[in-house]
Amino acid sequence: MFDTILGLPVHPLVVHAPVVLLPLVAVALILLAFRPAWRSRFAMPVLVLLAIGSLGTVAAMLSGNALGERVGIPATHQTYGVSLVISSLVFLVVAGGWLLWTRKSEEPTGAQQGLGWVVALGSVGIIVLTGLVGHSGATAAWSDVVATQTPQPTTSEEAEPGPAASPADSPAATATPTAGTSAQASPTPSQPTGYTMDDVAQHATRESCWAAVDGNVYDLTQWIALHPGGEDRILGLCGTDASAAFRGQHSDQERPNDQLASMVLGPLVG
Ligand code: HEM
Ligand code: HEM
Repeated sequence: MFDTILGLPVHPLVVHAPVVLLPLVAVALILLAFRPAWRSRFAMPVLVLLAIGSLGTVAAMLSGNALGERVGIPATHQTYGVSLVISSLVFLVVAGGWLLWTRKSEEPTGAQQGLGWVVALGSVGIIVLTGLVGHSGATAAWSDVVATQTPQPTTSEEAEPGPAASPADSPAATATPTAGTSAQASPTPSQPTGYTMDDVAQHATRESCWAAVDGNVYDLTQWIALHPGGEDRILGLCGTDASAAFRGQHSDQERPNDQLASMVLGPLVG
């Protein structure tokens, strides 16, 4: 149920509920905290949207885990995601309780107003955390695409001045280095559900460089030329189980882990 719908992953679909509703509701709550007179009219709609957004994070977590089984779990994103699930459910109870408690009071008591300040502060936290979750998810999904799929120059100022420039051979317009001729690095899995160490071992070159790390297989080909720590470090991993090397160098560092997650091919099997 949380895995796929119409042949596509559920996760990118359901995340819209929390990603859109939680910041919207948080802004509404901040306004309501400072405008007691608006509460009688808006408290219930805001509460309903808050409930949908908060419960949506649970659906996002379940579908995210299902997607992670296919493409690998992005560690940073998962940590932020789980934090958002917990905090938005706590927030639903606190802010929801406050809305129900204060919606009829024209003249709020000190305690009601005080809790309103807490809710407003919590709203800011929810906005920030939702941004972090969404950004880390989108980073895991898109950063390698952006880093490696360089747009073709379209404007005249980008055009090569030389005679009859070959489009396949004109990377000069951007800073992105290319990894030799490996742009289409063999994405042909031997089976769709996973990859064996034999599969990995067959991709041990600069032209097609795969490595296993902690139960997943990654295509590092494009990353060879981009690695801030140098090409050799990645070249040494091609065709191997790189778990120890990666953990030894980068275990709890956010950017390397995100970068790695963005290059996942699938789980290691056998
Ligand atoms: C808590 C457990 C979660 C797990 C395990 C998880 C897992 C994932 C995975 C595997 C991806 C795809 C990455 C890729 O393609 O390489 C992803 C993308 C994403 N996730 Fe999550 N996720 C979780 C929670 C959430 C939550 C709570 C939200 C939102 C509130 C969220 C929002 C997103 C977004 C916006 C994307 C990018 C989608 C796209 O641009 O295609 N995730 N997540
Ligand atoms: C697939 C494996 C690897 C990935 C995805 C990866 C990713 C990264 C990333 C994203 C950075 C930049 C970190 C930042 O800007 O905060 C980085 C830096 C670095 N990496 Fe890796 N790395 C990998 C393997 C290795 C290995 C095996 C070594 C060493 C044996 C290594 C050594 C370094 C060093 C020394 C730096 C720092 C470079 C500098 O800023 O001077 N990396 N790596």
